[in-house]
Amino acid sequence: MTEPVLALRGISKRFGEVVVAEDLDLTVAPGEAIGIVGPNGAGKSTLFSMIAGEQKPDSGAISMLGRDISSLPAQDRTRIGIGRTFQIPRPFEGMSVFENLLVFATSGAGLHGHAAYTRAAETGERVGLGDVLNAQAGSLGLLARKRLELARGLASDPTVLLLDEVAGGLTEPEVADLVELIRGVQQEGLAIVWIEHVVHALTQTVRRLACLAGGRLIADGDPFEVLDDPVVREVYLGTTLTTEEDTA
Ligand SMILES: Nc1ncnc2c1ncn2[C@@H]1O[C@H](COP(=O)(O)OP(=O)(O)OP(=O)(O)O)[C@@H](O)[C@H]1O
Ligand SMILES: [Mg+2]
Repeated sequence: MTEPVLALRGISKRFGEVVVAEDLDLTVAPGEAIGIVGPNGAGKSTLFSMIAGEQKPDSGAISMLGRDISSLPAQDRTRIGIGRTFQIPRPFEGMSVFENLLVFATSGAGLHGHAAYTRAAETGERVGLGDVLNAQAGSLGLLARKRLELARGLASDPTVLLLDEVAGGLTEPEVADLVELIRGVQQEGLAIVWIEHVVHALTQTVRRLACLAGGRLIADGDPFEVLDDPVVREVYLGTTLTTEEDTA
């Protein structure tokens, strides 16, 4: 049997009284694309931080391709193939777009010299930042910052890419471009876990959707079945869930 690219077992995490994960299990198969939805503050981003190694779970274990990575520092997890984007973009503001990407091509993908330069330039172009490779990252607007997040994730040559609300704040044509880009990336064999409130972007990309609420995955399966689940709809009442149906 193929080892899952990611396996979370019995993950629990709380911040004081706030429970963000409660004995949570999640398995991602190689090349699989999974969407994650859940109300604001459910703990979705924290889940990514625990997978990427920036936050420690209170208990539980995380493994990648059969290897327990629970005690591995964040930079080592990037190196072995866990790429992520941040919900609030975090570029190195004083560096150019190209230099930002070069950091991940070297420290993440382990490339040097010409190969690193090529990867940095190619990933920048791939996400539509080809014309601003020399611009200072701090001068970019929100859309370009989101693209840079995606490019940084890709530049590190991940096996699994964690996308945290990369479609938020984009116009519909921009979302369509993004969906095409992410589908292309997945077709190359990357596993993708995508947290997103713009649900129709997810349903065009993933075959599996999970909903995180109260520290647990309250639904996990076919995207349309999950979105139709009364329990899922209940946790979303009064929040920003927008499905294709709702926006059509
Ligand atoms: N470092 C931290 N210290 C204390 N509390 C935190 C910390 N990080 C997150 N939290 C809290 O944990 C909860 C989950 O936060 P998280 O950002 O993971 O939610 P989310 O599901 O990503 O929400 P959103 O949809 O708004 O992005 C929130 O109540 C948040 O305030
Ligand atoms: Mg979040």
